Amino acid sequence: MQNRRNEQPGRTAEKTPTTPTAPAPKPGRTAGLLRGMKDILPVDQPYWRRVSETVQRLAETHRFERIDTPVLEEAWLFTRGVGKETDIVEKEMFQFVDRSGDSIALRPELTAPVARAYIEHGFVSQPQPVKLYYFCPLFRHDRPQAGRYRQFWQFGFEVIGETHPIIDAQLILIAYQLYQSFNLPVRIQINSIGDSTCRPLYLKALTDYYRSRKNALCEDCKKRLARNPLRLLDCKAEDCRALKVDAPQTVDHLCEDCKNHFVAVLEYLDELEVPYTLNPRIVRGLDYYTRTTFEIWPDDQPEGEPVQELGGGGRYDGLVEQLGGRPTPGIGFASGVERLISLWRERSDASVSGLPVPDVFIAQLGDPARKLCLKLLQALRQNNIIAADCLSKDGIKAQLEAADRIGAKYALIIGQKEIMDGTVLIRDMENGIQEVVDYQKAVVEVAKRLDRGRSNGKMATETTASDAAHSHE
Ligand code: HAM
Repeated sequence: MQNRRNEQPGRTAEKTPTTPTAPAPKPGRTAGLLRGMKDILPVDQPYWRRVSETVQRLAETHRFERIDTPVLEEAWLFTRGVGKETDIVEKEMFQFVDRSGDSIALRPELTAPVARAYIEHGFVSQPQPVKLYYFCPLFRHDRPQAGRYRQFWQFGFEVIGETHPIIDAQLILIAYQLYQSFNLPVRIQINSIGDSTCRPLYLKALTDYYRSRKNALCEDCKKRLARNPLRLLDCKAEDCRALKVDAPQTVDHLCEDCKNHFVAVLEYLDELEVPYTLNPRIVRGLDYYTRTTFEIWPDDQPEGEPVQELGGGGRYDGLVEQLGGRPTPGIGFASGVERLISLWRERSDASVSGLPVPDVFIAQLGDPARKLCLKLLQALRQNNIIAADCLSKDGIKAQLEAADRIGAKYALIIGQKEIMDGTVLIRDMENGIQEVVDYQKAVVEVAKRLDRGRSNGKMATETTASDAAHSHE
């Protein structure tokens, strides 16, 4: 099923672009971040790298393949897939009409795009289930606060094409193991919200309960009561939270099939020794969920306190069909990367390193030396020796101080005398001992001192270095 939009009758060619009007910026203003956005600075990068490597490793261990989808999607994908009554779509979606007149959204989540890709690329003809994972930025025009941004990152895992409850347990195991890799004790909060057979009966019981208490509900929930009553259980407002305590529970209204499925999931989780709590309030805020729903909470979450979950997911057995595909079950979860990193940095011995410590630092005096250093740097890097420099600077003392600051093991120094003699000074930065070596042998000498032997192509090294010397002559 290829690109439904382009097949729509009457779809027009490019329209005249409309420029949104915004107040003119104040003269002399300083550029700044958009509200709710965050830069991921160099100091943050090692943490991000560790998370993305851990996700990739775990995904490959469990035989998931990576998928990347576009940042922009047709807005319909989310109104249809996630549900137009959900907060994500109704209140938080970055949505606009593009220059072609199409209604576009910055993706607020990735399950619907993955289901779209599953349909669009004929994954249905591959062996089932199809197991996909992602690590990517998403956008929600949420009210910014700690752990809640307008651009944030998720990693997520989706298994499409299988209904067996063992799949649910295996997926939840991945979520659990991921946090274990960061020494973060978590507990799975799990529930079942039934399917199209039993949900209507439950919704009736829920609506009856709340209708008699309508005056005590927040304004949002008064509207939800008529349009999407399940969302009442998801509300964070103080008054609504109190009412939830005695509200009917989904698990008491499950049909036989849903009950058996849920019991089996729990038995498999017991087998896997994944700690979980049965939590009747986990209904999730997206319309596509069926049967198993779960969230990942820090293990020490105080009872009754509002929680900012680390991740969440569940079954979505009707989603692929909703989007125009064949009836195909699915289950997945996604976790916020910012929330994981923040908890990891707060709670544990999060020690990660940034750039690797350089093996050598190249220091020079004068322009002819600079040119020789350019070639020398290239030869070192071709031989996998980590070399740092600040060739734009003058003054050997300042350069050696820089070498010391970044912890370089050796400095290679070329001044006027070295140029005349065709040599390089190798300085051991730890004990200050300096040695003169032939310029053409400099790379091999460094490799020897680093105990890297001559393995990485002595000839290549010498040739490069001697080329440099000749080009200088
Ligand atoms: P979700 O609960 O909307 O589920 O988001 C999953 C996770 O993304 C949250 O638990 C949280 O860690 C993070 N997150 C959500 N909004 C923000 C935000 N504004 N700022 C920072 N982090 C945030 C989904 O997105 C579903 N697609 C999950 C899923 C996958 N269900 C089945 N498969």
